[in-house]
Amino acid sequence: MITEIVPTDPTRPDPGAIARAADLLRAGRLVAFPTETVYGLGADALDPAAVRGIFEAKGRPGTNPVIVHVADPRQAGAVAAAWPEAAARLADRFWPGPLTLVVPRGPAVPDEVTAGGPTVAVRCPAHQVARELIRAAGRPVAAPSANRSTELSPTRAEHVLKSLGGRIDLILDGGPCPGGIESTVVDVTGPAVRLLRPGPVTVPMVEWVVGRVEVGPAAGGVARSPGQMAKHYSPRTPVVLAYSQEEADRLLDQFLNSGLLPLSLNFRGPALCGGVPESLKLGLDSSPEKAAADLYAWLHAFDDGKADRIVVEMPPDTPEWAAVRDRLTRSAAS
Ligand code: TXA
Ligand code: MG
Repeated sequence: MITEIVPTDPTRPDPGAIARAADLLRAGRLVAFPTETVYGLGADALDPAAVRGIFEAKGRPGTNPVIVHVADPRQAGAVAAAWPEAAARLADRFWPGPLTLVVPRGPAVPDEVTAGGPTVAVRCPAHQVARELIRAAGRPVAAPSANRSTELSPTRAEHVLKSLGGRIDLILDGGPCPGGIESTVVDVTGPAVRLLRPGPVTVPMVEWVVGRVEVGPAAGGVARSPGQMAKHYSPRTPVVLAYSQEEADRLLDQFLNSGLLPLSLNFRGPALCGGVPESLKLGLDSSPEKAAADLYAWLHAFDDGKADRIVVEMPPDTPEWAAVRDRLTRSAAS
């Protein structure tokens, strides 16, 4: 299969590009598109064969459910069996935007989307290309991140092409994703509102709207968000975490002394450390939003086999950094 790449303006999507991609979705084909978080790999959410195509292209285990994307909050009614009070409040406050709500699954949703489970994850993205594509397709769109399973999420069309080129029909290239990190996933089906994946919408932001939020899977419960398996979001180059500048410097020295070439990454802005060559030092912005926007792009760029290790000096342990810390921790798990 040849993967077609169709450029479009991110804020005023090209009608021809949207129509072409929407036709493919209606025909049961796979289309990658930009969202405000990362690129998604879309298929008609109500067509089981089309959704199976997503799993084949990604090499994703069928046990990991996918998020259904809707053009507006009303369309969520097509996939949810009920809309709990907490969902209504959170959608009202954060949609369109980088928040995914896990709600009771409606009868139209195939098993392929939910991994056979009783709930469905729904999100109304803010990116204009995503919204117009879903609207033009006239149906909800199932979309995980547009990468092979366990690889880094794509924040640019070229990342999608590198990972899925030849395996999908079309990539709508709307430029870099502004957010850069996957949506916050919140489960509102239980007695307590539960955060399943940290993201751009932080715990304090959710709590401000619905009160107390539990973090992580319910005790003794099944793996409710299997995408949260440790090995995920991984570059090929091993990532080593440091919890202070001193520890990072020590690790860098240690690797250099044993003949390994480390790349150093921190969140303090442009930085100097150890005897690492200038070209392998990277200081990301000290604002969580700006750092998140660039994080995957840099990890993709540095995952070219030049460095032997990536030494990451972790950002502070505060709610605003929780999503970045979560992805870094997962990128280091092997
Ligand atoms: O920002 C995002 O969320 C991106 C863009 C494309 O929207 N999508 C994304 O999808 O990150 P994916 O498949 O890479 O991650 C979806 C996460 C996984 O951790 C999955 O296990 C969880 O959502 N999930 C999906 N359906 C679920 C459900 N019914 N219950 C619990 N967790 C669910
Ligand atoms: Mg993913």
